[in-house]
Amino acid sequence: MSEHISVTDEGPIRIIRFDRADKKNAITRAMYAGMADALNEADASASIRCVVIAGSPGTFTAGNDLMDFMSAPPEFGADEAPPVQRFMQALMGCSRPVIAAVDGLAIGIGVTLLLHCDLVYASDRSSFKTPFVDLALAPEFGSSAILPGLVGRAVASDLLLLGSAWDAKKAAANGLLTGVFPTGDLEHEVMDRAKALAAKAPGAVRAAKALMRLEGDRIEDRILTEGREFSRLLQSEEFKEAATAFMERRPPDFSRFG
Ligand code: COA
Repeated sequence: MSEHISVTDEGPIRIIRFDRADKKNAITRAMYAGMADALNEADASASIRCVVIAGSPGTFTAGNDLMDFMSAPPEFGADEAPPVQRFMQALMGCSRPVIAAVDGLAIGIGVTLLLHCDLVYASDRSSFKTPFVDLALAPEFGSSAILPGLVGRAVASDLLLLGSAWDAKKAAANGLLTGVFPTGDLEHEVMDRAKALAAKAPGAVRAAKALMRLEGDRIEDRILTEGREFSRLLQSEEFKEAATAFMERRPPDFSRFG
């Protein structure tokens, strides 16, 4: 585990935090590797229901460590996936919902990774920038497809070609964020939502997340896929608990489900 990330479990919620504030949380290979492990472990653990990715006060992350980029450039497609790829694969493959809590600077992969989280909250002092072209580099990890899909190519080009910095208001208006909070409220607002997710029926949460991530199918096929999931969940103990709780006029208790 890298000394520059911290991983803590608060009950069913795993919090993975960039912890290298003196370098603006620039991400090294060791940090990617530690985060990949922390995410994979969370995914394999029956007790973890939700993951939060956060930074330090005023800095989410300044992106990939530029020294690392020069001394050990990641080789995509190599036999052994580089740590950054392992991290992004772990994030994209995580069956648990992942919430990002952005306070302050989010640069480069600090923005790219948000496109793969399920819920993204930011403080009102946050800013978002992807200076790949300014660094004579290219967009990464699907952002050249996801971002134009989300905001349209003309707007995506403001980030991905011009390298403009977006404030939280602009990022939210363009659908990059789920919500914006005053700086002092961000973390407890995020934790409230993480707890709410963790209290829901875990199988149903996983199914909804997986369905939202299916791509490229026709709507008729999607309806069938959803219908099969719906039928499967109707037979589940989780649904039995939800329906019984409704009849008994009490909140459902999903804590025994994995
Ligand atoms: N990689 C490596 N080190 C980084 C870094 C990065 N991506 N971002 C910041 N740092 C380091 C700086 O080198 C500096 O180290 P030092 O104190 O040993 O000199 C320290 O973090 C503080 O950064 P500094 O530039 O002094 O702070 P600032 O508040 O003036 O500016 C940033 C902060 C993030 C705007 C600026 O550091 C920056 O533009 N960083 C590069 C961002 C980037 O291009 N990321 C890669 C995207 S692919």
